[in-house]
Amino acid sequence: MITIVCGGFFGDEGKGKVAGYLGLRGGYSASIRTGSVNAGHTLTYRGRVWKLRLVPSAFINKDIRLFIARGSLIRIDTLLKEIEETETRGRICVDRYSGVIEKRHVEMEALDEKLRSIGSTFQGVGAATAERVLRRLKLAWEFREIEDLLCDSSPEILDMIERGEEILVEGTQGLFLSLYHGTYPYVTSRDTSAAGILSEIGAGPKHVDQVIVVFKSFVTRVGEGPLEGEISPEDAEKLGLIERGTVTGRLRRVAPFNIELARKAVRINSATQVAITKLDALYREARGVREWGKLPREARRFIEDLEERIGVPITLIGTGEDVEDMIDLRKEKL
Ligand code: IMP
Ligand code: MG
Repeated sequence: MITIVCGGFFGDEGKGKVAGYLGLRGGYSASIRTGSVNAGHTLTYRGRVWKLRLVPSAFINKDIRLFIARGSLIRIDTLLKEIEETETRGRICVDRYSGVIEKRHVEMEALDEKLRSIGSTFQGVGAATAERVLRRLKLAWEFREIEDLLCDSSPEILDMIERGEEILVEGTQGLFLSLYHGTYPYVTSRDTSAAGILSEIGAGPKHVDQVIVVFKSFVTRVGEGPLEGEISPEDAEKLGLIERGTVTGRLRRVAPFNIELARKAVRINSATQVAITKLDALYREARGVREWGKLPREARRFIEDLEERIGVPITLIGTGEDVEDMIDLRKEKL
C-alpha cells in the first residue's frame, strides 16, 4: 500500500526529515518523489547534510528503490548532480513522461512581473508547467543524457503494491501553497494536496492507506501572501525561529502554530497521522530526545493539546536536525 507524506502549512515543515526517517524505519520497498525543483528538502543524517530537490529523501536507506514521478518536472543538471551526491545511480529511475525544465523556462520567469509580486522561487517550474498544459513541453525520454535512467514508474509501482509491498510517496511544499486549495494567487503551480500528489504518480486512492501530514511546531512562509499572526524578524530571531529557504536562501517569515489551518489541512488531505517537527525550537530541553517519556512536561502538554484539537494521532515528533532525532509513537497509537 501507499503512504503519502505531505506538508500541512506553506512548505518547509520538515517533510524531508520525516520521509528520511520512514525510509529507515517504515518497511518501504520504494519511495517516489513528486513536485519539482522549486521545493527543497534538507536532510541531515549521521553528520552529513544534503539539500535535495529531486532525489527522494528515503535514499539514505540503500535497500530502497527510488522513482521520480510521471507528473513531476525535472532539471537534467540538478538531477545528475544529486544522483552523484547521493550515490543513487543504479537504484533511481525517472519516469520517461516526466517533464523537463530548460534554461529558457527560467529566463521566461525572470521577466514575469506577476511572479515577482507573489515571490516566486523563479526556478522555471510554473513556465514549464504552463507549456505542459499547452502540450509543448519536452519530456524526459527526449533527452539522451538521461536515457539510462528512464522507466515507466506507474506500472512498476502498481506491481509492487500488488505483491504486497509498501510504497512511500514524498510530496512537496504545503497545502496552502496549492494551486487549488491554497491562498491563490500566492501559490505554486501545482496541487500540493495528498490527492494532487497521488495524481502525479499514477495510482488510485484505494492504494493509499496512510496519509501523514507534516506540521512544524511554528508556521513559516517564504514569498508573499497572507500569514496570520506574523511576527517581526527581530522577534523571530529572539525566539530562535529564524530559518532560510533551502533553494533560494531567503529569510522565512514566521508565525505561531495555526490550529485552524492545521485542522483544514488534516481534513482536506484526509490525514491518518500527523507528524510535528522542530519541537526543540519551542522547548530547548526537547532537543535530541527520542523517547516520549523523556520530553519536558510542557512539550508533552503542547503535543497532547494539539492532538486533541486536531483530532488525528500525532505519531512522529521531530526533536533535532538528524533524521534519527525522532520520537516514534506509531506502535502505541495506530
Ligand atoms: P513558485 O512556485 O516557485 O513560482 O513560487 C510560488 C510561491 O510558492 C512563492 O511564494 C514561493 O515562495 C512558494 N514556494 C514554492 N515552492 C516552495 C517550497 O518548496 N517551500 C516553500 N515555499 C515554496
Ligand atoms: Mg523546503
